[in-house]
Amino acid sequence: MLSQEENELLTRVGPGTPMGEMLRRYWLPALLSSELPEPDGYPLRRLRLLGESLVAFRDSNGRIGVLGEHCPHRGASLFFARNEECGLRCVYHGWKFDAEGNCLDMPNEPSDSAYRAKIKQVSYRTRERNGMIWVYMGSAAEPPALPDLEWNLYPESHGYISKRIQKCNWAQALEGGIDSSHVPFLHGKLETPSTAEDLNAKSYLPNSFYYADRTPQFEILETEYGCHIASRRNAGPDDYYWRINEFLMPFHTLLPPTTLAETPTWGAHAWVPVDDETCVTWSMNWSTKPLSAEEMDFLRNGNMLHAAEKELAPETSAPEGKWSPAGNLENDYLIDYEVQRTKFFTGIPHLWLQDHAIQESMGPIYDRRNEHLGASDAGVIKARQMWLRSARALRDHGTLPPGLLQPQSYRIHPIATVLPRSEPWLEALKDQLFVTGAPL
Ligand code: FES
Ligand SMILES: [Fe+2]
Repeated sequence: MLSQEENELLTRVGPGTPMGEMLRRYWLPALLSSELPEPDGYPLRRLRLLGESLVAFRDSNGRIGVLGEHCPHRGASLFFARNEECGLRCVYHGWKFDAEGNCLDMPNEPSDSAYRAKIKQVSYRTRERNGMIWVYMGSAAEPPALPDLEWNLYPESHGYISKRIQKCNWAQALEGGIDSSHVPFLHGKLETPSTAEDLNAKSYLPNSFYYADRTPQFEILETEYGCHIASRRNAGPDDYYWRINEFLMPFHTLLPPTTLAETPTWGAHAWVPVDDETCVTWSMNWSTKPLSAEEMDFLRNGNMLHAAEKELAPETSAPEGKWSPAGNLENDYLIDYEVQRTKFFTGIPHLWLQDHAIQESMGPIYDRRNEHLGASDAGVIKARQMWLRSARALRDHGTLPPGLLQPQSYRIHPIATVLPRSEPWLEALKDQLFVTGAPL
C-alpha cells in the first residue's frame, strides 16, 4: 500500500515532476529504426514521451531529429512539415528547423537573422543502435552511455522487437511484468500440463512446477542496475525450480523462459511512459545467432510476448495509433467465457493480451491506498522502493539514479532452472546470469 503522496510521486512523469525528472536521466526506447526508414521521409507524430508531444524525422544526411510537435512561431503541428534539405519546414509560414532545433529559415519575416538566432525549437538527443532509436530528454551536457541491454547489442537479424500501447500508467504495467506469482493463474490452463508438454520448445505456457506449487517463495537482491527477483517453487523432494526475473532501472525487465526446454531466444520488456495514463510496452526477443525465417515468423505471429501484427488496429496518423491492440476495453479484450469455463483460466486469447487486459482493468492510475500486498509481492515492493528512493534523492540532493554510471552492469540474462535444494541460487547461477561476449 502507498500513501496518496507516494502514489502521485510514483505515477506522475510530466516535466518538473520528481519521477519525470528521474526518468529524463535515462535513455528512452522511442522508435524502431524501420519507422523512419529513409532520409527526407515523412515526419512521425506517433511519438509522445513523458507527457510531451514530439515529431521525429530522418534528415537528408540520415540524422534523426526529435523535436517538440508545435512550431515555436504560432504552434502549428510539425507533423505536417516538409522534410527537406536537412530540416523540417513548417507548412504554415515556412519556418525551418534542423535536428537540433535551430531555426534555419524564416521566409515570411523581412530581416530575420537576429530574431531567427533567438528562436530554438525543443529538441532531444537521439542514438540509433541495432534497430532501436533511443531518445534522451534530460538536460545533462553529456548524456550517459546507452545501457548494455543484451537485446540491443546484437544486430536486427538476431531478434524481433514489437510494441503496443497500454492505456494505463507505466509503473502499474511494469509491476505485472515482475510479478511471477500470477503466471499459473492469469496465463494458466485448467489442466496441469505434463512434463512432455513442458519440453515442447514452442509452448510458452507455464510449466508443471507452476501448477504443483502456486505459492512461490521470493528472494530479492538489489544490484547496481536494479534487482534480481528470485522465486522458488518446490520441484520434488530434493529440488527447487528457480525463476530469476530481472528489474533494471528505470523500466526494463528480463523474462526467464517458462518451459524447461532450451529456449532459442531470450525475452525482455521496456515499459516506457507516454504520459501519466498511457505507456508503450516494448517486447524484445533475441538470440546469440541470426534467427531463421521460421523462428522470426513464430515471434511475429506467435502468441508469446508480441502483439501479432494481425491483432493490431489499422494504421492511423494518430499518435501511437498503429500500435493499439484490436483486443481492448470496448470489446472486453475478446474474452470467451466458454473457453474460461472449459480450457484456460481467463478465456482471453494470447498471453500478452491477458497481461494487457488485466493491467488496464485496474484503471489508468490505480490508487494504491486500496491494495493489500502479500509475501508474493516482494518484487513489486522492491521496485517501488527503488523508484521512490531514487526520485527523492535526485530531487533533494541531486543524486544520480542507479545504473547510469554502470552501463555494462545491464549485461544480464534471465534464468529459470531446477537446482538441488542445498544449492544457493546465486552461487549456482552466477556464470549464466552475466552476459559475456555479446557484440556491440
Ligand atoms: S506556425 Fe510554423 S511557421 Fe508559423
Ligand atoms: Fe504475465
